[in-house]
Amino acid sequence: MHHFEYRNNTLYAEDVDLAALAQEIGTPFYVYSEATLRRHIGVFAKAFAGADTLVAYSVKANSNLAVLKILASEGAGADVVSGGELMRALKAGIPPEKIVFSGVGKTDAEIKAALEAGIHQFNVESEPELDALNRLGIALGRPAPIAFRVNPDVAAGGHDKISTGRKEDKFGVAWHEARALYARARAMTGVAVKGVDLHIGSQITDLAPFETAFRKAAGLIADLRADGCAIERLDLGGGLGIPYGAGAVPPHPEEYAALIKRVTAPLGVQLIFEPGRMIAGNAGVMVTRVVYDKKGEARRFLIVDAGMNDLIRPALYDAHHDILPVCRNPGALQVVYDVVGPVCESSDFFAKGRCLPETPPGESVAVMSAGAYGAAQASEYNSRRLIPEVLVNGDKHAVIRRRPTYDEMLALEATPGWLD
Ligand code: LLP
Repeated sequence: MHHFEYRNNTLYAEDVDLAALAQEIGTPFYVYSEATLRRHIGVFAKAFAGADTLVAYSVKANSNLAVLKILASEGAGADVVSGGELMRALKAGIPPEKIVFSGVGKTDAEIKAALEAGIHQFNVESEPELDALNRLGIALGRPAPIAFRVNPDVAAGGHDKISTGRKEDKFGVAWHEARALYARARAMTGVAVKGVDLHIGSQITDLAPFETAFRKAAGLIADLRADGCAIERLDLGGGLGIPYGAGAVPPHPEEYAALIKRVTAPLGVQLIFEPGRMIAGNAGVMVTRVVYDKKGEARRFLIVDAGMNDLIRPALYDAHHDILPVCRNPGALQVVYDVVGPVCESSDFFAKGRCLPETPPGESVAVMSAGAYGAAQASEYNSRRLIPEVLVNGDKHAVIRRRPTYDEMLALEATPGWLD
């Protein structure tokens, strides 16, 4: 459920008229609904009420400071994958003891920063990383709390590029090596073994792969305990899909929670979750204006002022996003469009062969379900400035990331003296 709906044929974000907002902000821009963000994190927390859980929001999905601050105020922790995300999470007021650090390539500098901050857990993805954590834990006199991210070899995820739990994927340690690695880690003084971690993919719309992976993890915990290894936490990652308006419908968080409670209840562990998309995805849309309606030789193109640099999901994952006119005209002709941006790539599209009301230049459309992996994956390709992000709360709105000036876009570049 989200808070984007039509009132008198105009699309609103909560109580804010998006046509008026487009006039004020200028297109393209992202707009997020605070009520939706709060609702989603609340639904997740409620599904696990009574259990010992840490909901560590996956910052990569939407890392805007205001978004993080909202989630922090709801009691969320953070799943971070870089020194930059760690810095953002701390700056937003997320307590270090609620932060977990995932990722296959943590550098010494990143590990040091996280150790000094006193985070809850490092999710260790390889033996060399274990050695680095041990070395730095000893050097700083602070053992690193760790869980190994184990790779259960389960196929899951809405697209090949967002599947992470197969043995061909770069993530996690091999299942059959896990027990030996835990034994090695237990003998180290620079790390403290705390738990088991896994994350099998993203936009998962079927409970079956979760169940297979979670049962394997429960079995591993039993084996590790039999080896004499105390395991007090189980991090189940993120990955629960959201409805995008087409494609498979994901299970409700309550069903996901019921499965998890069934599988993990006998273990007596703290459960950690790293939801990203489920929290932010349907809490945001991207508003973009039609520049031209181009009748090509074989297709009709709705050319909008946002490009693949602003929202890369269709280009990268063939992702479906619903597209809605900001001002709906019930009498409009239905037209089959390719909705494309101005970037010089054929992959610069938001929809292909999509039936939409005929939309004249100057009108805006909303690309729906763009709150996760939208702004966070944007770039300045084609020297296009990053687009603003706006937060709505009831009838209030605030720009939470402004559009930079062209001078700001160039500010970090320099031409060496010999070119003068
Ligand atoms: N934890 C780890 C270790 C992850 O790698 C991810 C996502 C998450 C949690 C959060 O997963 P979520 O709950 O959002 O599914 N850019 C792609 C998605 C990439 C997901 C990467 N990892 C997209 O736009 O579909």
